[in-house]
Amino acid sequence: MTFTLPDLPYAYDALQPYVSRETLEYHHDKHHKAYVDTGNKLLEGTDLAGKSLEEIVKASYGTNQALFNNAGQHYNHLHFWHWLKPNGGGAIPGELEKKIIEDLGSVEKAKEDFIQAGITQFGSGWAWLAVKDGKIVVQKTPNGENPLVHGATPILGVDVWEHSYYIDYRNRRPDYLKAVVENLVNWEYVAELYSKAV
Ligand SMILES: [Fe+2]
Repeated sequence: MTFTLPDLPYAYDALQPYVSRETLEYHHDKHHKAYVDTGNKLLEGTDLAGKSLEEIVKASYGTNQALFNNAGQHYNHLHFWHWLKPNGGGAIPGELEKKIIEDLGSVEKAKEDFIQAGITQFGSGWAWLAVKDGKIVVQKTPNGENPLVHGATPILGVDVWEHSYYIDYRNRRPDYLKAVVENLVNWEYVAELYSKAV
């Protein structure tokens, strides 16, 4: 396969006031595009060229760092656009909510732990909810890494690279994370990935 930059599933200004048009223009049109373009150049001619994106991410981890960085970030951003939506962050679909309470204590605790993971990820990276051994867990990863390379399946990820929040929030990463969790998370998409993962 070759990597393709998808259109955003909403307008560039649809996530305002929490994420600005300017941030989405840079984040999607410049940063995600660069992962796609560089990833395609690095993929060309390798024996991974015919594989699926997930296979490329897993196989390049630890063996081809430059390709992994770009393939991982392409995978992460493909989902990230769908993990957000206008008027998100509301009720969590029942089955997923039940499982979150069972595995993480309560919805409030899960959100707190998730936000904390994003705050404490030193430098660039991601905060995650993932399914590992049948349980929902909170994870954080540096750079382009994701739960796929740590034996888990990602169901929610929030980008904490500065390019995702610095225009709107400057250095206030905690405010960005709270705003995303409370107002933008597309829990229906998280539930869809959860049911595929189990
Ligand atoms: Fe990003």
